[in-house]
Amino acid sequence: MKRSWSLAAMAAAAITLAAATPAMAAGDAAAGAKAIAPCKACHSTVANKNMIGPSLAGVYGRKAGSLASFGSRYSKQLVASGLTWDDATLDKWLEGPSALVKGTKMTFPGLKDATARANVIAYLKTLK
Ligand code: HEC
Repeated sequence: MKRSWSLAAMAAAAITLAAATPAMAAGDAAAGAKAIAPCKACHSTVANKNMIGPSLAGVYGRKAGSLASFGSRYSKQLVASGLTWDDATLDKWLEGPSALVKGTKMTFPGLKDATARANVIAYLKTLK
């Protein structure tokens, strides 16, 4: 009895995951533009206008820790991470920066809502 219940739970979890995947790809950039309000305490969206954090202009597709104008203000850990910012790496980063890159200087607890993260990522893609 127990066993069949846990199989059913696993099947339900698999269905939930399958349903969540396309949602991650199709973020809403307009909603993301609003959802980045807390990010703006530390980040601008204007090219090379750096604040506590590096400018987010052009961040999508960039190698982590590589904006020359932010230079030595990056943590060694982020520079050494070898990450490139795409849908998957940004999703993990925005969920919990220090869980992805231990020792990062981005002291932000993370966005726990997957839809909010997908929307923010969709918006970041529009910033050239
Ligand atoms: C408390 C300030 C702060 C907040 C709030 C914050 N960040 Fe950051 N962010 C930083 C700092 C500082 C870094 C550089 C981290 C390092 O060098 O380890 C960073 C780095 C990043 C990077 C990597 C940039 C690169 O050039 O590699 C991205 C992407 C990013 N932040 C996005 C966001 C988003 C999106 C939000 C909002 C959900 C956010 N940040 C909120 C301070 C902040």
